[in-house]
Amino acid sequence: MAFLTRGAETGRPQVAEVGLGLIPDHALEEVRNRADIVQIVSRYVTLKKSGPRHWGLCPFHSEKTASFHVHEDKQIFYCFGCQASGDVFAFRMRHDGLDFPDAARALARELGIPLPTSASAPSGHVAQLYQANDAALGYFRQSLRSPEGAQARRYLRARGVSDDLVDRFQIGYAPSSWEGLQRHLARKPQEFKLAEQAGLLVRRQTGDGYYDRFRGRIVFPIAEPSGHVVGFGGRALGEDETPKYLNSPESPIYRKGRVLFGLPLAIDAIRRKGRAVLVEGYFDLVALHRAGVEEGVAPCGTALTVEHAQRLRRYAKEVVLLFDGDEAGQHAAERALPILLAAGLRVRAAFLPTGEDPDTLIQRSGAAALRACLDAAEPLLDHLIERRLRGLPDHAWAVADAAHAIAPLLRAVRDPIEYETYVREIAKRLNVPPAALAKVLQGGSTDDPSSPATPAEPVGEIRLDPATRVLLGALASYPQLLPLLDSLPPDWLLAGDARELLERLTGAIRERGDRALAHLLSPSEQKLSEPLKSALSRIVAEAGDTDLRAAKRAMQDCVARLGIGALDRRTRELTARLESCKDPDELESLLQEKQRNLTERRELWSQVQHV
Ligand code: CTP
Ligand code: MN
Repeated sequence: MAFLTRGAETGRPQVAEVGLGLIPDHALEEVRNRADIVQIVSRYVTLKKSGPRHWGLCPFHSEKTASFHVHEDKQIFYCFGCQASGDVFAFRMRHDGLDFPDAARALARELGIPLPTSASAPSGHVAQLYQANDAALGYFRQSLRSPEGAQARRYLRARGVSDDLVDRFQIGYAPSSWEGLQRHLARKPQEFKLAEQAGLLVRRQTGDGYYDRFRGRIVFPIAEPSGHVVGFGGRALGEDETPKYLNSPESPIYRKGRVLFGLPLAIDAIRRKGRAVLVEGYFDLVALHRAGVEEGVAPCGTALTVEHAQRLRRYAKEVVLLFDGDEAGQHAAERALPILLAAGLRVRAAFLPTGEDPDTLIQRSGAAALRACLDAAEPLLDHLIERRLRGLPDHAWAVADAAHAIAPLLRAVRDPIEYETYVREIAKRLNVPPAALAKVLQGGSTDDPSSPATPAEPVGEIRLDPATRVLLGALASYPQLLPLLDSLPPDWLLAGDARELLERLTGAIRERGDRALAHLLSPSEQKLSEPLKSALSRIVAEAGDTDLRAAKRAMQDCVARLGIGALDRRTRELTARLESCKDPDELESLLQEKQRNLTERRELWSQVQHV
């Protein structure tokens, strides 16, 4: 079914199972060891070597000077422009819009590494479900062209769907017969069973046998970027028929919380434009294509999920919601916002005239009106904040209520700079100090006993203090520097993201030595979240090609600073306990410890590079 897909796919049959197909670890390991990232990236990007790095124009965003590079020794890539990063698997996933198992299989195939058959092709049952859907699609397509499809063809024409669009979306027709699809399928009981599992046939309640689920409906196949049809959406021809839409039920190959209608057709355009347009329905998506907007997708009759959002984030940073301008549309947008923000997306909304959807708007007012509406899309968070703050009474209660109402939306903003800017602006609007608003957002106290002495700075979507940053950069570049960490006092470790990154990196170095970084950044490494992976890539890229001696000096410096931080925290604690201590023995030992700390601190201080 590769014809359902344009652009990104290679045209070779690819396989996608829902969930992680089982690829044995040893096979993954072999792919990892044998795949050379420079060689693989070179197939798509012209690279020029400079030192240990190979530079080229980033395939993930448009640029005129090369900010994308591949690091040969570390087997990772990074783009200074768009922060795309990862190992060889991540490159193939992003470049070809594949899931991890698909990317792994594609690489294995290219390297000639045999995979167990159950992993190299959709497993028996899954493959059979795809086949059942393929067979049904053939039947629906053929029915639309046949004499019994005349009414459906008239319907589509009346709704402005050209033959070209019918082909692009592979639209078909399910005739009103109860047994049309059954007759089309081979008359083997096994076929019927599979068609039932794929949701195409329904078992009769009385006696045995089946009837067709889709009857007298326009059918839209729902496909994955792999080209496989996972389900169908069926629109009744009559306006009063219920239900208006009938959809395939969920099945082993169809999870509605994951699938986005139109994604295979949109991937290229989403990448090119740097945004995806989200609409609510099947015909709305067709309308977008009529207006020349190809970066559209729609959930399949379900609410937007985090998984949907994360999938979109793989291709672009921005999503434009194109919803009805009425109350329901506003609410739908409000519900979708935190989900999209949490995936690290920027969200705009374009509200249509009340009561219109993209399809009715293009029918009534034409393609230009639809495009104009899209062009007027404004940042949704700003829009909602504005709505909440407009005409706000200047009374403490009202101000506090407004701050608390905005908090959940604001908290979902992932980028630290965006976040801080919003906080500053809103504090100004509310006429309160930013720190007070920040407190509301953190849901209380701001004291973190283990917070490092130096203030945290943004690294992509997370915050890290400069010392941890240098430490991570040096360690990732030169794993052999790991023993330097041994000289730290036992409670030196930081909290939160800094701690997690350091622990994961040191763990990986102990386990994998020089290959630690590629492992840690691999999509198969699920212990480290995407924002942390991306921060680590960035730190390593920015650490540049520091030589070993400089890295060692920088690391010693950071170790000393972190040690001092830990000692200072401990000393503050001791001071507090000394004040309230009554027991002379305890007093003595507390004093001794404090003394030791101060000596140790002097020692460390002498190692810090005072520049
Ligand atoms: N939907 C559904 N089942 C229904 C109604 C709606 O699955 N009974 C889904 C469909 O994906 C539909 C979307 O929700 O496209 C939006 O629904 P609605 O706005 O009611 O329909 P339209 O898309 O406007 O459908 P049409 O233009 O064909 O009337
Ligand atoms: Mn509609």
